[in-house]
Amino acid sequence: MSLTISKHCASITPSVTLSINSKSNEMREKGIDVISFGAGEPDFCTPEYICNAAIEAIRHGKTKYTASSGTVKLRKAIADKLLRDNGLSYGADEIIVSNGAKQSLYIALQAMLDPGDEVLIPSPCWVSYPEMVRMCSGVPVYIRTSEERGFIPSAEDIEKMITPKTKVFILTSPSNPNGVVYDYEHMKAIAELAVKHQFYILSDEIYEKLIYDGKKHISIASISEEVKKQTIVVNGMSKAYAMTGWRIGYAAGPKDVIKAMGSYQSHATSNANSIAQEAATEALSREDDDMKKMVDEFEARRDLAYNMINAIPDMRCVRPEGAFYIMCNISKFLGKSYNGKKLSTSVELCSALLENFHVAVVPGEAFEAPNYFRISYAISRSQIKTGLERIAAFVSALQ
Ligand SMILES: Cc1ncc(COP(=O)(O)O)c(C=O)c1O
Repeated sequence: MSLTISKHCASITPSVTLSINSKSNEMREKGIDVISFGAGEPDFCTPEYICNAAIEAIRHGKTKYTASSGTVKLRKAIADKLLRDNGLSYGADEIIVSNGAKQSLYIALQAMLDPGDEVLIPSPCWVSYPEMVRMCSGVPVYIRTSEERGFIPSAEDIEKMITPKTKVFILTSPSNPNGVVYDYEHMKAIAELAVKHQFYILSDEIYEKLIYDGKKHISIASISEEVKKQTIVVNGMSKAYAMTGWRIGYAAGPKDVIKAMGSYQSHATSNANSIAQEAATEALSREDDDMKKMVDEFEARRDLAYNMINAIPDMRCVRPEGAFYIMCNISKFLGKSYNGKKLSTSVELCSALLENFHVAVVPGEAFEAPNYFRISYAISRSQIKTGLERIAAFVSALQ
């Protein structure tokens, strides 16, 4: 045998978002003042009461392996949260705790997919879904959505793509990369299709709490008992509690799927960090004023960024209602040149922007949206203002 990397691993595309972050960090280390709109994490600190719970956990020796699917205390706190916030009733054996929502999503796909099974993904979509599907030997099938229709697929758009191999539909509301929030009618249509054609719904609700304009999050599993039986709800602590580094996510769903996920996880990674599980239990068990302040600040930043982007000649964006991302339509600039160099793609345009104007954004190719780039407004208002002023200067210099 030769010393080669396996074909399935060699074919994985590394996360574009992470590579943009590392490029802008390198520039910063060289003393360049880079404004980075790349990050997918809140710039707030984890609330103090959560940090204190972790310190107490260490002092009380909560430093050993836990049950692979998570402590009973945390799964109970998650069950209470799902009932309180989403009207969903689950027992502890219908819940699993993982190393972040990302792991929950991945092992859920592992539990559901056989080789060749198709997974419907509305696009633009989060960068990791197609790779995860391929890593589970599944086939990503994109449902292209349009800016004109708010990036939400109609029931007809979805039904056209359903085949006998359709196994899962991935729903992300609020959405990364475009902040779209699905309304009840669209969710109901998806739920009905799932029941009619018998496929699972993988509902990624990680941005549930980051929702604006007085809107309320709906979990698709709450639409009917029937659809709940074929939905896996995924959520986690990263975004709502500014706990990205703690790595706690979870999934709730039908017993057989959760059990299969548990078997997979028990061999792949064992339990999530025991100290972080204690901290997450505390976070989910009390009212949180810090979260409200964070959400209000994100809403103000959304307004600032949205107004500034739409004031840039020839640039436009859809007003996001959740998460902390905006997709900027740059189709009018593609094919133009900067300093004599033609910029034909979003990747080329974004790298010229970073190199010459020191602003990092994520090219749309990462999200199956080549006519866009994505900004994350999880940075201060003054940075948003400076960054968007630089973007305006860059596009006005294109010829
Ligand atoms: C849509 C979406 N789902 C899941 C995740 C992963 O979250 P976690 O930090 O809990 O793994 C992210 C993180 O960026 C995300 O944007």
